[in-house]
Amino acid sequence: IRSVVLGCGSYLPEQVVTNAQLAARIDTSDEWIVQRTGIRERHIAAEGEFTSHLAIKAAQAALADAGVDAQSIELIVLATSTPDNTFPATAVAVQHGLGINHGAAFDLQAVCSGFVFALATADNFLRTGAYKRALVIGAETFSRILDWNDRGTCVLFGDGAGAVVLEAQEQPGNAATDRGVVTTHLRSDGRHKAKLFVDGGPSSTQTVGHLRMEGREVFKHAVGMITDVIVDAFNATGLNADSIDWFVPHQANKRIIDASAHKLHIAPEKVVLTVDRHGNTSAASIPLALSVARKDGRIKKGDLVLLEAMGGGFTWGSALVRW
Ligand code: ACO
Repeated sequence: IRSVVLGCGSYLPEQVVTNAQLAARIDTSDEWIVQRTGIRERHIAAEGEFTSHLAIKAAQAALADAGVDAQSIELIVLATSTPDNTFPATAVAVQHGLGINHGAAFDLQAVCSGFVFALATADNFLRTGAYKRALVIGAETFSRILDWNDRGTCVLFGDGAGAVVLEAQEQPGNAATDRGVVTTHLRSDGRHKAKLFVDGGPSSTQTVGHLRMEGREVFKHAVGMITDVIVDAFNATGLNADSIDWFVPHQANKRIIDASAHKLHIAPEKVVLTVDRHGNTSAASIPLALSVARKDGRIKKGDLVLLEAMGGGFTWGSALVRW
């Protein structure tokens, strides 16, 4: 049994904020941001627009793309670090918003690696036969936890949501053509927990807090961790960079993506890049990028897609999916 992707969808808030608009408010420039990160603009949620609202719209788009009814969904795994409330899980607000009141819905928190962790979690539930159909969602409103006076972080992030519908399906058993999630590899190492964190929370400070990051330190570890966990995926499957049709990395920074692809010998034309238009949307970035590459016709049925992410914790992970 494999977890096959039936469809994907995404949602971006209406408001676009360009680098020039940021430069009018803080001491930065379009040139600095583009050169260091590749980011040109990002979407920012409107007042009163919550993570669950973005997630519901992305989920509805994914369900429409898959051509299945919301009532057929038995499991919702929602990756977010910016939930509507401390509890209940944002996933249950999404479940309710979709009119579903059976099955299970829960949040998963692995910061920027959240979508890969959520995909791996749902995949395991589907392959054991526990559920037949799942929604895997990455949804964030990082604009709410940014320190808008810290130019080192506030220029990097954006808001958005993306989702995929997975279905447990019997496959013929041909390693080269079987569709679905082929393999997932997840890692974390809490020794790095103070390099990228939010300085608030219900138990520690009873505040929401703001994102804090040692950018250089994150950068230093990113490429090595990303490439290691992709090599794990290659070693587990016998696949390699040439087998890959599309590389859809977490969209944090163009330099990290370019360096990772280069180190793995993945051809630049196979890399899906959205960081220029979306910024870093944390757990939402991969399903947002998948939706872009599906809609513009790049990712086709049968293509082998490599996903990877790295983020706060540190957490990092990879997934190979035959679309
Ligand atoms: N505009 C202008 N100048 C800035 C800005 C800004 N927005 N931000 C920082 N600077 C200045 C700094 O103040 C510093 O000035 P100084 O030399 O006078 O002190 C100078 O630029 C260099 O600062 P650094 O932080 O050393 O800049 P660096 O070259 O490391 O670039 C960046 C910063 C882009 C954050 C980089 O470290 C990076 O990309 N790190 C990876 C972090 C990342 O992508 N995190 C995302 C979350 S984790 C993930 O998703 C993988």
